[in-house]
Amino acid sequence: MILDIINKKRLGKELSYKEIDYFFNGYLDGQITDYQMSSLLMAICINGMTDEETFSLTKIFIDSGDILDFSDIEGIKVDKHSTGGIGDKTTLIIAPIVASLGIPVIKMSGRGLGYTGGTIDKIESIPGFKINLKESDIRQQVMDIGIVLTGQTKDLVPMDKVIYALRDVTATVSSIPLIASSIMSKKIASGADKILIDVKYGSGALLKTKEEAKELSSLMKKIGEVYGREVRTIISDMNVPLGRCIGNAIEVEEAIEVLKGKEDSNNLYSLCIDLATEMVSMGKEIPNEDAKKLVIESIDNGKALKKFKELVEYQKGNIKGIKISDKTISIKSEENGEIKKINALELGKLALALGAGKLKKNDRIDHSVGIKLNKLVGDSVKKGDILMTLYVKNDTLDVNIDDIFTIE
Ligand code: URA
Repeated sequence: MILDIINKKRLGKELSYKEIDYFFNGYLDGQITDYQMSSLLMAICINGMTDEETFSLTKIFIDSGDILDFSDIEGIKVDKHSTGGIGDKTTLIIAPIVASLGIPVIKMSGRGLGYTGGTIDKIESIPGFKINLKESDIRQQVMDIGIVLTGQTKDLVPMDKVIYALRDVTATVSSIPLIASSIMSKKIASGADKILIDVKYGSGALLKTKEEAKELSSLMKKIGEVYGREVRTIISDMNVPLGRCIGNAIEVEEAIEVLKGKEDSNNLYSLCIDLATEMVSMGKEIPNEDAKKLVIESIDNGKALKKFKELVEYQKGNIKGIKISDKTISIKSEENGEIKKINALELGKLALALGAGKLKKNDRIDHSVGIKLNKLVGDSVKKGDILMTLYVKNDTLDVNIDDIFTIE
């Protein structure tokens, strides 16, 4: 049976619900080995899955753990997810914006994957911030202040945790049906009424092309239909990093700047406005143009920032304790010209080398290190101008400027 299933997918044939269930639950129970599961995942990666197969896999994922129910909490709960990128701190900005407008936000976030950072790692740079909340704490907090930012509860889609860990080390992450079922199972199991997905493409994203991002987006909407959840998507460019900062503490500080109304943040401010607009439009069931006005107002009148501070305080974080390394290295331009490109993936790799992410499972993240871009695409530079500042622990570091900046 095990080999028949692998062979069937290797030949590009459609698997039944029963076969998918047998295989994935068999893996969870320890009956199917890592190498057998890896073979099937690779066959899925290469030959894809039909919509029916993806729906089956999503259901099997959801059924592997708890299904949270927040229907007793008043208001439409809108959740947001990003497929992952470099410098993506949008959750820290849009969750308080949306909550400040009276829409309950229960945001369960993840840690970094590969070169992409995770919101939970970032928020942990606020000393004391509690990220492992139980369902009862989450419920109480939403009722008290209308916003929660926490790691996923232990039993939320446990199958995704083990499959994701295996995908991460077998080059089987970038499969559209596997990404769709992984994301949508978590969103549905976490009790969201409506879902917004920021689908990223480009060098710093899991999917490299806009076409793939569109395909993923339409598949996730179809899964949403099966479960009666409205799903909206924004397809966004991750060829360049989001904002100017990459790291952990440094990204929290950048998020706070945007909440204070700082628009000069590369593409970050505008993407946050777009994402928050979709969430508010879904949460209040109003047209986007009305939602956008409310979103901008909540930044301009300080309510979004106030909500962020309330969130941090409620979860016992000490915002004043955020620490960015005071040891810096300035990376300077070696030529005159205009910045044509900034490679997000290379910046992700550099952030990882600085210690802002994990290379191995047991590595410790240094929240104080990071990168701040001083120049952006389109800026003209002169020889000797600072292109970026690195906040480091060690002075010695090899940086190949040409891998990151294309200056012509
Ligand atoms: N994010 C997820 O949660 N799962 C994936 O498979 C990819 C990105």
